[in-house]
Amino acid sequence: MTELAEIGLIGLGVMGSNLALNIAEKGSRIAVFNRTPSRTAEFVAEAGALAGNIVGCDTIEAFVAAIRPPRPIIIMIKAGEAVDQQIDALKPLLSGGDIVIDAGNANFRDTIARFDRLKDTGLTFIGMGVSGGEEGARHGPSIMVGGTEQSYQRVEKVLTSISARYEGDPCCAWLGTDGAGHFVKTIHNGIEYADMQMIAEIYGILRDGLGKSAGEIGTIFGGWNKGRLNSYLIEITEKVLAAGDASTGRPIVDVILDRAGQKGTGKWSVIEAQQMGVPATAIEAAVAARSLSSIKAEREAAQAIFGAPDHVFPLEDGAALLKDLELALFAAKIGAYAQGFAVMAEASREFGWSLPMPTIARIWRAGCIIRSQFLDEITKAFTETPDVANLIVTPAFSAMVRESLPALRRIVAAAVTAGIPVPALASALTYFDAYRQARGTANLIQAQRDFFGAHGFDRTDGLDIHHGPWSAGA
Ligand code: 6PG
Repeated sequence: MTELAEIGLIGLGVMGSNLALNIAEKGSRIAVFNRTPSRTAEFVAEAGALAGNIVGCDTIEAFVAAIRPPRPIIIMIKAGEAVDQQIDALKPLLSGGDIVIDAGNANFRDTIARFDRLKDTGLTFIGMGVSGGEEGARHGPSIMVGGTEQSYQRVEKVLTSISARYEGDPCCAWLGTDGAGHFVKTIHNGIEYADMQMIAEIYGILRDGLGKSAGEIGTIFGGWNKGRLNSYLIEITEKVLAAGDASTGRPIVDVILDRAGQKGTGKWSVIEAQQMGVPATAIEAAVAARSLSSIKAEREAAQAIFGAPDHVFPLEDGAALLKDLELALFAAKIGAYAQGFAVMAEASREFGWSLPMPTIARIWRAGCIIRSQFLDEITKAFTETPDVANLIVTPAFSAMVRESLPALRRIVAAAVTAGIPVPALASALTYFDAYRQARGTANLIQAQRDFFGAHGFDRTDGLDIHHGPWSAGA
């Protein structure tokens, strides 16, 4: 009898194939199944030396039988209905303790529902966020797990063996029950959107405000990647800006349409933040900017009506300005991460997860798309002050904000003057300004609400009077 596989995987698309090869390479035997058996055969044939650890199965029955019980089965297919269909197909073949693992970018609310549906069947469900794109899946992703702790124990060894490592520490952790892993992955993506949008806004200033070429801007990002902005996204920005287009000889970025796609996770972050009443303005701005980017025809028509702004940037080009741009991006980045972590803190309370903030920051340090040295600093800040209300008021980050905020203010002000849109940078700036304003302007809103709807207000002096003179008909 052939040796049973340690784990199974369904769905040999790009991510599934890479994850399966990663598992096989790290020494675990894996059974694989794909809807079209020819793909399974092709996958095994192309696996080379790793094929010895791969059991290609043509039927779902053979696939299930090839895995050691309790069977962990990773489903890596398109999020949505297909996942439910796959679970339904598997259910009659599985037995008590088997674990269905959805490793796609599922909406965590679907994950909670799936977890609940399987609860009384003896089977269990893990919602697993996997970040790092194709390369990460193949050589070391960041893995965010949600499900029962017991089910995690069954897969911990395999998952930690394939995950990325930061200074030897695996970027994989159990974060809480049911939808916790997919929720954290969603917020990871929300932060990813903000990070990318802020980088694009700085690129816009350099391109439109300072007239720099893609190559020149790439070199600037390359320099920043050696400093405090050091991160995967800055690194690939340098590479992207340096790349040429074979058919025109121009920089490839100059021939790519300025219309960004989005598959949903960014939007879900914002929806959930709004739902819980947590301000995540930089993430919201990033999602809205993608939507605005996609209405290209409308933008072209509007430019024909209003003309393009003159883009005269009021600050002089030079080393000081570049330093300001670097610091501005850093300050705004702090704002976006602070918002993302605040959303997770609230969700943790709302969904009863006890999300471990230092652990989340720790497993994002390598493998995932937002990986950076900066996340190590966040890990330290949350480890030192785990119950802090907001990242920006931790001692380490408040010092960084104090240092970088003036640059963000100068850059946003200059961009606004030049007519260069910087919605995410500006949102981060406004977030800081509003967050540290002990007396804001909502007193007026309360008065208006009370005026038109007798909604009531509390007074600064604590007097037990909750309506204004207007409600008495004055
Ligand atoms: C990751 C990425 C990955 C994917 C995003 C892209 O962490 O590996 O976030 O999950 O690239 O889903 O999302 P959009 O298509 O919405 O930009």
